[in-house]
Amino acid sequence: MTEYVDEIRRLKKEKNAVILAHYYQDAEIQDVADFVGDSLDLSRRAASVDADVIVFCGVRFMAEVAKIVNPTRTVLLPDMDAGCSLEEECPAEAFKAWRAEHPDHISLTYINCSAEVKGLSDIIVTSSNAEAIINQLPEDQPILFAPDRHLGAYLNKKTGRDMVLWPGACIVHEEFSEERLLQLKAEHPDARVAAHPECPNAIIELADHAGSTRSILDFVARDGTSTFIIATEPHIIHQMELNHPEKTFIAAPGVKDARAADSCPCTHCPYMALNTMEKLRNTLRDMTPRIEMSETSRLDALKPIERMLEMSPKPKATSQAAE
Ligand code: 13P
Ligand code: SF4
Repeated sequence: MTEYVDEIRRLKKEKNAVILAHYYQDAEIQDVADFVGDSLDLSRRAASVDADVIVFCGVRFMAEVAKIVNPTRTVLLPDMDAGCSLEEECPAEAFKAWRAEHPDHISLTYINCSAEVKGLSDIIVTSSNAEAIINQLPEDQPILFAPDRHLGAYLNKKTGRDMVLWPGACIVHEEFSEERLLQLKAEHPDARVAAHPECPNAIIELADHAGSTRSILDFVARDGTSTFIIATEPHIIHQMELNHPEKTFIAAPGVKDARAADSCPCTHCPYMALNTMEKLRNTLRDMTPRIEMSETSRLDALKPIERMLEMSPKPKATSQAAE
């Protein structure tokens, strides 16, 4: 993989491009990126890019957000099939019908959805800012929350609201095994557990910390313990090991890991995995595939994203990949 690093760096300069990457990307991609972050940090960073080209190493909805907030840049995604199960489970037509059935509700929509669904929503949220945004809404305001039912249930519990939830879920975070996590905790009694709120409640109940990818990174940085069990996509452990070589990080086990020696590592996001160093090199070299959308769709999706950015708590220091 390192064979591509020099070429990627050269092409990046030649094309005046920046590489933005999510923590779930392969370690090599994180290392070659100019900035690594969670969904919220990446959307803020994308908005302020003044290079000509943004190469987004993440999933398609994240690259779409970059185009929506910074439309004059060319936005490239190494593999256009890098989708998200939450997006797939929430088609725009069905979402529109759901909204029509609840005319008194406003719709708070998780950023993991298509640009079209964003355009049909009132406010976009991420797992970093959802709780703070909900707490700014009047207590008697009925709310629809889509598309992740686990994140929605977690937020209902945290805020005391009764949001109506869309029945979607992340195929990766649903994979964690409660039984095997309990076994792992018994083997490592001093370990602290951090989970993403896309996990089902049974996993979150076993966690010492629940939050977005960046908040999990902040938790392992400030907590004095030396061993952590991480219940989110395990490529994030690369950042932890870079920043805290003295600490031990164990990926929480998935149900299928136990079945057979050759079973898939099902807690890996198959969509994120579609981006590779070779495709990143190709995308920079060929300036394709590009994120394109009509100006009407972009402006529709921009409104609820801008509301999110206005209502988000002020950003803390963000993570920067070593270059
Ligand atoms: P974060 O916003 O926490 O980075 O999460 C994005 C995501 O897709 C989690 O599965
Ligand atoms: Fe979507 Fe789940 Fe992959 Fe995140 S981990 S991008 S929610 S499929």
